[in-house]
Amino acid sequence: MTDSIEQRILRDFRSFHEEPELSYQEFHTTQKIKAELTDAGIKILPLKLETGCVAELGSGQRCVALRCDIDALPVEEDPAHACRSKIPGKMHACGHDFHTALILGSAMLLKQRESALKGRVRLIFQPAEEAPGGAAKVLESGALEGVEAIFGVHTIPLYAPGTLGIREGATHAAVDRFRIDFHGKGTHAAHPDLGVDTLQAAAAFATAVQSVVSRNSDPFATNLLSVTRLEAGNTWNVIPETAVIEGTIRTMSADNREMVKRRMTQMAEGIAASYGASAKVTWVFGLPAMNNDKRLSDFARDLAQKDGFKAERTPASLGGEDFALYEERLPGAFVQVGTGPSLPNHNPGFVADQRALCPAAKFMAHLGAAYLETSVLGGAA
Ligand code: NI
Repeated sequence: MTDSIEQRILRDFRSFHEEPELSYQEFHTTQKIKAELTDAGIKILPLKLETGCVAELGSGQRCVALRCDIDALPVEEDPAHACRSKIPGKMHACGHDFHTALILGSAMLLKQRESALKGRVRLIFQPAEEAPGGAAKVLESGALEGVEAIFGVHTIPLYAPGTLGIREGATHAAVDRFRIDFHGKGTHAAHPDLGVDTLQAAAAFATAVQSVVSRNSDPFATNLLSVTRLEAGNTWNVIPETAVIEGTIRTMSADNREMVKRRMTQMAEGIAASYGASAKVTWVFGLPAMNNDKRLSDFARDLAQKDGFKAERTPASLGGEDFALYEERLPGAFVQVGTGPSLPNHNPGFVADQRALCPAAKFMAHLGAAYLETSVLGGAA
């Protein structure tokens, strides 16, 4: 890597870090990305995206995508940080500044060997990962049309620079939210027999529902269910007519997601009915679980080792990641770049070690180019 590209990657990282923008507000960030791409002579695709952008290098039938996310979080950065956000209340606390500089760096490196590429590499600068769901906007724009495979990047403070975390299958959970409205009959606290106590029904449900995890789930599966809000009544001598429960479920496969939803609904309705009350269950479906393609994950891991990285099998997380939306459409793999040690992502004290940046940019460029030289998914190389 030439000094100038290396310096440029590090300068970009600092610049993105100092000027974070929240989901769907990444106008200035998008301008900066486009200016860097244009300056490097890289083609920007004319897609309808208000923020974020998509660029492409190379030519030919085959196409592989490299994706980063570009948005920041409403977090006030630790004032002790040497390089720190200049915008109060906003911070790149998940390392998306690092990801953006990384994929821009990969683009510049690929530009140097563009004529040798055995196909096209599409670079996705995705907005609003934290919203979440900027990936849906990117998909709607047609950015993934004609793409065979997609690789994503993310920082991981668990590992030091020099280590890449790659895991096949589910690395991030499906994130769903529920609300249950229990309805009964309000009455005087001294005359419970004249009413239907919804609070009792809701409390019974909140206790019993954990059996969906302990009794209905495969003991080797990872399903999580948290009741986080139970609200009923407003005074001491009235049995309330309604009670509300909210919470979240996290599952690692479509089958488990469906099973937990079905059993919870049955249980809410059944328990409510057994107390003479009713329950209305509302689901807010969030992101699906990630599902990293085994062939692509193995390919990325082998290449990481050949390139001198230590490759680890990343632990799974019950957090969500909207890269999962791409993987619903096409095979993908997720590369987590060791940038630690640090406080966790989304913490005001989160830092990504910049020593990990240039090697990772070089690796992702290599991964895109090497993918096009092989037939990992069984197609023509
Ligand atoms: Ni993130």
